[in-house]
Amino acid sequence: MARKKIIAGNWKMNMTPSQAVELIDTLKPLVGNEDVDVLLCVPAIDIIPAMEAAKGSNIMIGAENMYFEEKGAFTGEISPLMLVDAGVKYVIIGHSERREYFAETDETVNKKVLKAFEHGITPIICCGETLTQREQGVTIDFIRQQIKIAFLNVTAAQAASAVIAYEPIWAIGTGKVATTEQAQEVCKAIRECIGEIYDEATADAIRIQYGGSVSASSAPELFAQPDIDGGLVGGASLKADFGRIVCYNK
Ligand code: 13P
Repeated sequence: MARKKIIAGNWKMNMTPSQAVELIDTLKPLVGNEDVDVLLCVPAIDIIPAMEAAKGSNIMIGAENMYFEEKGAFTGEISPLMLVDAGVKYVIIGHSERREYFAETDETVNKKVLKAFEHGITPIICCGETLTQREQGVTIDFIRQQIKIAFLNVTAAQAASAVIAYEPIWAIGTGKVATTEQAQEVCKAIRECIGEIYDEATADAIRIQYGGSVSASSAPELFAQPDIDGGLVGGASLKADFGRIVCYNK
């Protein structure tokens, strides 16, 4: 089965609601590629205007985070019910910045992943090693542990529909993109790990993105790798360049 590529922007803490509408208007004519699912994960306050601005185009709007409870006294958090009501189909879970600055752990990632599935939202589950871990030669062990915990109690059918984003922390926002070989090696190991937890069909179906300084120039080679099914794009998703990344094969 051929997996459809999924190329997602992660705007992080950028773009006011009015800037969001302006950027989506700019991107709309630039991201036509029937081979690719195109997604922009935007700040919570931008979701509704972004949905409105993206209407009539192939751009889907996703969220950057979600809490693992439906409602209650959790000041400042975003509930899955709110995302569903706004029409959100994808949510980034466990980005390394959330792990580093907002105390997210493999356990909270797992809770969020389960909650997203419960509400029919597809999680984009982030994993990735530090530079120290890469230098220590423990990259694959570390990523396998992140994946195994993230998928605890997730069914095979849910896992098959999930997206994993492999984002080496040392490549995020540094301009230092992983080599094609490094990215492919880890994405392949992730797929094998999913195959061990579930089965071959699930491993074949799950989509695995690479993220970390993806640019219009690095995208074609990265996305041509057998185990890389697209990208999670930070900085380059804030400008018209994102259109060139989405149209990497044109
Ligand atoms: P950059 O593309 O800016 O390196 O960010 C990658 C990222 O963290 C996407 O989630």
